[in-house]
Amino acid sequence: MKYDELFALLRRRGVLWPTAEIYGGAQGLYDYGPAGAQLKRQVEEAWAAWFIGLSDDFYRIDPGEVLPEAVVRASGHLENFTDPEVSCAKCGSHFRAETILEKWRPEGVDGLSPAQIGELLQQHPVRCPQCGSTELSVPRPFNLMFGFEFGAAGGERAYLRPETAQSSYLAFSRMWDVGRHALPLGIGVIGKAYRNEIAPRQVLFRMRAFTQAELQVFFDPASFPLPFASAADEPLPVLRVPRRTAGEETPVFQSARSLVDEGLPEFYVFFLVHMYRFFRDVLRYPKESIRLFEKSDTERAFYNRIQFDFEVKLESLGGFKELGAVHYRGDYDLSRHSAGSGKDLSVALEGGQRLLPHVLETTFGVDRNVWALADLGLVTEGERTVWRLPPYLAPSTVGVFPLMKKEHTTEAHRWVEALRKAGVGAEFDASGSIGRRYARMDELGIPYCVTVDRETLEAPSLGSRTATLRQRDSKEQERITLDALTARLHTSRVLPRPSPLNGGA
Ligand code: GAP
Repeated sequence: MKYDELFALLRRRGVLWPTAEIYGGAQGLYDYGPAGAQLKRQVEEAWAAWFIGLSDDFYRIDPGEVLPEAVVRASGHLENFTDPEVSCAKCGSHFRAETILEKWRPEGVDGLSPAQIGELLQQHPVRCPQCGSTELSVPRPFNLMFGFEFGAAGGERAYLRPETAQSSYLAFSRMWDVGRHALPLGIGVIGKAYRNEIAPRQVLFRMRAFTQAELQVFFDPASFPLPFASAADEPLPVLRVPRRTAGEETPVFQSARSLVDEGLPEFYVFFLVHMYRFFRDVLRYPKESIRLFEKSDTERAFYNRIQFDFEVKLESLGGFKELGAVHYRGDYDLSRHSAGSGKDLSVALEGGQRLLPHVLETTFGVDRNVWALADLGLVTEGERTVWRLPPYLAPSTVGVFPLMKKEHTTEAHRWVEALRKAGVGAEFDASGSIGRRYARMDELGIPYCVTVDRETLEAPSLGSRTATLRQRDSKEQERITLDALTARLHTSRVLPRPSPLNGGA
């Protein structure tokens, strides 16, 4: 679906809309309505089941979002978390250098210094995208963090966290004691991150307040026991640096084992496979639309040693877009926070020797993936628009309709109540024709609809009463009892889980 059409549909169905819409909106800020909020929660739960569920030694925490300045100074964000920015002297607009140079340098400007970007601006006939002027400033590094004075007396500065990962590093020594004093130890956070993006755009893609789901795995690089055999034969669609620099844009499928043969560490490739399976098998993105895009030495984030971005091809945004990544951060974070806090964050291993653990990070942008689920899942078939969401991600599980408003409404309410009591999300709908009601549920991705009619009332006990069940994707219909329906819907909601690391695989 095209960008405008998709955004209009999501707004109309109350999935999401701009914050402060009645004031004309606020750039880079969006609110979720009932269906969007529920879908987002389901995506978060699916992420937690898949990533935190990987080990008994992986924990999910819920830390605060405000960080004292000392934290972002030590982490390197105060110094390095910048984007090159260009402004127009005529109309005063501000742009990311990457956006303004897109036409001449589609691969972006990661790794280039402001001076090099300045040269590119000189070499090409670049104009202000807003007013067409050529009076553009030299690029300057613009820090993306939101900082503010903290406390009534002022003088103390604090920042909204630019990535949830920082909260896990701050929690590491506490969690070492809460856990089993053993590596690997995983700490996951799902929560808000904040960035003062120079040019927010494409709705959920470049926001100023967004949700990340990140797992930091602390481990000993000399010993990271993993069931690599269970991942070794998985073909991964990778685009490695040498092919990229030769101008290739399409990934090639390469087995996980072959990536290890090419020099990537087993633990890293294992997590590439785990993340890829999440995209393909849990979110059900078509494997042809996924690309694992390797970042070069100069392009990687300042804290990374290895970085593959997970990109997915989205029609509404005109190409591959980054939705998550796997980062090998080495001991960068714990060594910086040891130095910054003055607290030794190394741990004692079984043999008594001390180690500053390394970090493997999986990062996942929840909002971007909500958009991707809409882009890839919403399809138009003639008059019908269907959102083909996996049932366990759908905002609700079943629409319950009375065939005749007057005769069957009380019974339909009984079904809704019984389903909800059994923990199944059910939506009552009596407005318009049955066809209209199917259409509304289809657009929201609700996988089942059930219609209560005269025959329903014939059976004596509620559990044995029957109604017509219709499936969203096949449109097949069948007669089913309330008890059988409840059991089937329960099963459809079960979140996919991986084989645990400490349970074998
Ligand atoms: N902890 C590592 C980290 O923050 P990142 O590549 O800067 O890495 C991770 O961000 C993910 O967060 C991205 O893959 C993307 O999905 C999401 N993300 C980043 N900036 C965003 C923004 N402005 N709006 C929405 N999502 C964003």
